[in-house]
Formats: sequence, C-alpha cells, structure tokens
Amino acid sequence: MSTHKETFHRKLEGAWILFSVLTLLSILVGTVIEIAPMFLVKSNIPTISTVKPLTPLELAGRDIYQREGCVNCHSQMVRPFRDELERYGEYGKPGESVYDHPFLWGSKRTGPDLSRVGGKYPNLWHVRHMENPRSTSPRSLMPNYYWLLEYDLNLSSLSAHLSGLRTLGVPYSDREVSNAVSLAKEQAKVIADDVAANGGPKGLANKEIVAVVAYLQRLGKDLKATPTASVSGSTNNGGS
Ligand code: HEC
Repeated sequence: MSTHKETFHRKLEGAWILFSVLTLLSILVGTVIEIAPMFLVKSNIPTISTVKPLTPLELAGRDIYQREGCVNCHSQMVRPFRDELERYGEYGKPGESVYDHPFLWGSKRTGPDLSRVGGKYPNLWHVRHMENPRSTSPRSLMPNYYWLLEYDLNLSSLSAHLSGLRTLGVPYSDREVSNAVSLAKEQAKVIADDVAANGGPKGLANKEIVAVVAYLQRLGKDLKATPTASVSGSTNNGGS
C-alpha cells in the first residue's frame, strides 16, 4: 500500500550485511530473554527442604566415587516407572541434586542404581563389599576396591573444596568450611568404630573407605528425613 514503506523494506533487504546483523541481534535478544530467567530466578530451581549439602566426609567420599569411576556402572537416578519404584523406591527429583557439582546421575547401569542405597546395609557390609564384592554378593561382577581400606584419606584440600562449592551456591557455613577436616575426622571415627565393634577390620578411621561408606550411607536419606528439624536458618528457599 504505502510505497514509502515498500521502498524502505526493499532497501533493507538489499543491504544484506545490515539485514543479517539485525536478524542475528533479534534472535540473540529473544534467546537471552528465554534463557536468562532460568539462571536468575531462584524459585525456578525446585528445592526440597530436607535436602542438605553433604558433610565434609561425605563430600570426600563423593570425590573418591568420582575418581574410581563408580558412575560408569551405577546410576543415581530412579526413573518414574513401576519396576524401578518397586526395586529402588521413590523416583529421583530435580531438587535432590541441587548441591551436586557435577551431577552423578550416570547413564549406565551395569550395577544397580545407588540413589536410594543409604541405610540399606550396615557400614560393615559396605566395607566387605568394597574390599571384595563376591564376599557379600556371590556372583557379583563388580571389581574389588581393596585399596580403599589401605589408602590414607587425604583431606588436605577439603576446606578449599567446600569453599569452592559455596561460591557455586552450596550453603556451607563458615564453621563447616574452616573446620572441614575436624568434622570429617569426627564422622570417620564414628563409622570406623561401628565397623570395628561389629567384628570388621580395625583402624579404618583414616582410610578412604570410611569416606566412601559415609557417602553411600547418605544417598537417598534426605528424602526420607522429616522436615521439622532445624527450620530456623534454613538456607533453602523457593518451592518444596
Ligand atoms: C564394572 C561395574 C561396576 C563398577 C565400576 C562398580 N560397581 Fe558397584 N556394583 C556392580 C554390580 C554388578 C553390583 C551388583 C552386585 C553386587 O552387589 O556386588 C554392584 C553393587 C554395588 C552396591 C550394592 C547396591 C545394592 O543396592 O545392593 C554398592 C553400594 C556399590 N556397588 C558401590 C560401588 C562403588 C562405591 C563403586 C566405585 C568405587 C562401584 N560400586 C563400582 C558393578 C560395578
């Protein structure tokens, strides 16, 4: 209709460099508008009030879990299908992994899912199983990890690890960051004492195995925890 508009449009189309730049800009702006809220709006992240960050010892165990490649055979995510629910329990929720850096959901299950294994077995069972899986699960094809009972637990970078996670948004307190090593040793002693008291090997308190056991025993526990405990000062905000 309006010839003025038509000629302007023609000109714009002819200026292909300008036209490409403008097109690119409008796509970029659209993309940013769609994606930015995902990072900026906190309530978009579904948190679960009972899910808390790992303790320092559990975190050390998680590092060993990564180092040993357990994730290559074990997933940590129960899918919402009946067979999985009956075998493992409650299906995995996004809010369970908000403090996981990196995620260890895994994609291959040579062994069973581990996200609900916490509390399923006594500590000593895990020690024996890690040392030689055939001693507890006769036809297991899981490799032996006997060195976890021999290697000393290295806690030298634990405080730095906690403070690094804190910059990523994991709500560790100053106390946890600065006392990470002593907190880890305290928890390690409890597990080692329990293992020894039940007839297992003695003197494991400073070995890698106690960290791995602490980590395994934590998996899935938070979902079952009652939300009443320590509501004040809770760092979880947003949904439930
Ligand atoms: C080559 C594959 C493989 C690797 C690697 C592996 N596992 Fe396993 N895991 C299995 C298999 C298969 C089973 C089932 C039989 C058994 O209980 O040993 C199993 C069972 C388990 C169980 C008992 C689960 C249950 O619900 O009964 C735990 C706990 C476990 N593994 C922990 C670990 C940890 C920790 C690591 C790393 C240090 C690891 N696994 C590495 C294959 C593997």
